[in-house]
Amino acid sequence: APAPAPTPKSLNFAAVAKTNADTVSVPAGYQVSILHALGDPMMFGDTSWSDAGTETAESYDRRIGDGHDGMYYFGLSDDGKFDANRSDRGLLCVNHEYVVAPYGLHPAGSTKVGDQRPADEVEKEIRAHGVSVVEVKRKSGSNDMEMVRGSKYNRRVTSATEMDFGGPAAGNAKLVNKLSPDGKLAFGMNNNCANGYTPWGTYLTCEENYLNVIGRAAGDDEQRSASEIVALKRYGLPAGRKNPYGWDTPDGEQYQRWNSKVSGASAAEDHRNSFNTFGWVVEIDPFRPESKPVKRSALGRFNHEGAWPAPAKAGEPIVIYSGDDARNEYVFKFVSDAKWDPKDINGGTAMGAKYLDKGKLYAAKFNDDGTGQWLELTHGKNGIDDKNTLYPFADQGDVVMHCRLAADFMGATKMDRPEWGGVNPLNNEVYMTMTNNSQRDGEKMPLNAANPRKGNTNGHIIRWKEKGGQAGTSFEWDVYLFGAREDGKQSENLSGLTAVNDFSSPDGLYFDQRNGQTDGLLWIQTDDGAYTDVTNCMMLAALPGHVGDGGKIKTREGQETIMGAKPTDANVRRFLVGPFDCEITGVVVTPDGKTLFFNVQHPGEDKGDFTTNTFTSHWPGNQAPASDALHHGHKRPRSATVVVTRTDGGTIGI
Ligand code: FEO
Ligand code: CA
Ligand code: CA
Ligand code: CA
Repeated sequence: APAPAPTPKSLNFAAVAKTNADTVSVPAGYQVSILHALGDPMMFGDTSWSDAGTETAESYDRRIGDGHDGMYYFGLSDDGKFDANRSDRGLLCVNHEYVVAPYGLHPAGSTKVGDQRPADEVEKEIRAHGVSVVEVKRKSGSNDMEMVRGSKYNRRVTSATEMDFGGPAAGNAKLVNKLSPDGKLAFGMNNNCANGYTPWGTYLTCEENYLNVIGRAAGDDEQRSASEIVALKRYGLPAGRKNPYGWDTPDGEQYQRWNSKVSGASAAEDHRNSFNTFGWVVEIDPFRPESKPVKRSALGRFNHEGAWPAPAKAGEPIVIYSGDDARNEYVFKFVSDAKWDPKDINGGTAMGAKYLDKGKLYAAKFNDDGTGQWLELTHGKNGIDDKNTLYPFADQGDVVMHCRLAADFMGATKMDRPEWGGVNPLNNEVYMTMTNNSQRDGEKMPLNAANPRKGNTNGHIIRWKEKGGQAGTSFEWDVYLFGAREDGKQSENLSGLTAVNDFSSPDGLYFDQRNGQTDGLLWIQTDDGAYTDVTNCMMLAALPGHVGDGGKIKTREGQETIMGAKPTDANVRRFLVGPFDCEITGVVVTPDGKTLFFNVQHPGEDKGDFTTNTFTSHWPGNQAPASDALHHGHKRPRSATVVVTRTDGGTIGI
């Protein structure tokens, strides 16, 4: 069926000014509250967060984790099922990407004795990573929401949780390790950045900077085959690379897995393959708290920012887009073999096995003329096989585990750090942020039409229209927006951004799903260090047009590119600005459009003095009112989920 005709909409708020204030600033007529922050107890029986870092490691199995990032809201019916239309009660899944500083976890930041980290600190950090699932409900007579403490749905998944592997890599020889001699289990997930969701009601959470928690011993190359060394190097783990968090340094066998080195007689007797167990998309069923998470290997292994689904259509494949967030890496797309059957709603991870374990993985090639191709990454096709001279791919499990190498071989386009994506429900066009790329120097990394600015300090948002349906293998693209300061002082202000909508380093991106997915309202969030002398990170609202509504332009470096229609103050506007030294990330809106959730990650990231509890940010303690006893008055900055509502009870943004 054709997409419904767009209803003319307009943004319903006055733009928020750029600011370095240590608070969340929202438009007139809007208000905020804190849903949960690092360390908040999810169940009864644990103390409130102390502001002193004295909570036990074990208690983090029941506390909100650190580094709030991607998230999703699932409406919850009275009989415990996924209800995509329910706005007053739901399950909120939030990623806890990493431990910040770590200000809140320990009494005085992270410590070391000689080269060793204390085991109790490492244990706490392992439990502060992962995902929280909490039940949320509206406060009476209000669209504001609160966490339901003690709910049977409240749950933590961490860097210690046992999970299964699904898809072509499950049971692969390169996943065999001492904890999983059959290569079918993983222990924990790490650095879960952004997310996705499925039409059957499960949460997808994506491992991005897992190199934070893995090291490899010096001299380990001598124990490895040439092809293993190629793969380890391509994925950023040369021999002698220290584990940045030092999780492999406490005494005890349980810490050895954080160093991916050969130490035993075979893979089943050591942790040489532990590195390969990270970098995947993990499926979690929030409606069944006892269910085991599953790593869905068919979607590939890389610095997975997120997993962005196209709207599901009955009788058509499930299509999921992904960005590999590292400089000069790729955009990927997964197309399921199975066709969507709406009767599969509420089927849990059994549906993940049906739709996400079998399908095709592609990498994107953006041509300079505005066309593009999806390059298939399938073992036995196009020279992706064990005779390949770049890297001998043993089987499809090896291809998905090392899809960066398969995409290198196929000639995919190296991008300016792909982060979040989203599919416009009005026309199925796909948007993806390219956050920035200091290595786009025009020489070692040449300019091209899809990455046309030298240095690309302020990033851009690319979009494409699939040909032959969402599962098609070719597309047309343009650049929706180029990030820039209004004065063009860093990257050239090609999109003509003004005081009400200039931004730098787009990262989070989300098409609002309200009202049967027909409004085309786009939220854009920033994770920036380039414009932070003038403004903290922010969230903008946009009503974009479509691919091809602009035309060809030339950058000041002389690179031709294709840009969409220039935005206006009416159709791209700053909605909020976050507290000092934070990233704004994670956004989801209830189906009725009246409650918006977003995350503040790492406020006050840069400096701290634990003896006086003085930090560059004191948020959220400085913004939470006295009535919010869990958050009010605390000095240590904390990552948190924020609820935005309108004071008149109306809809958010439009
Ligand atoms: Fe965790 Fe690429 O952001
Ligand atoms: Ca991000
Ligand atoms: Ca980022
Ligand atoms: Ca982040």
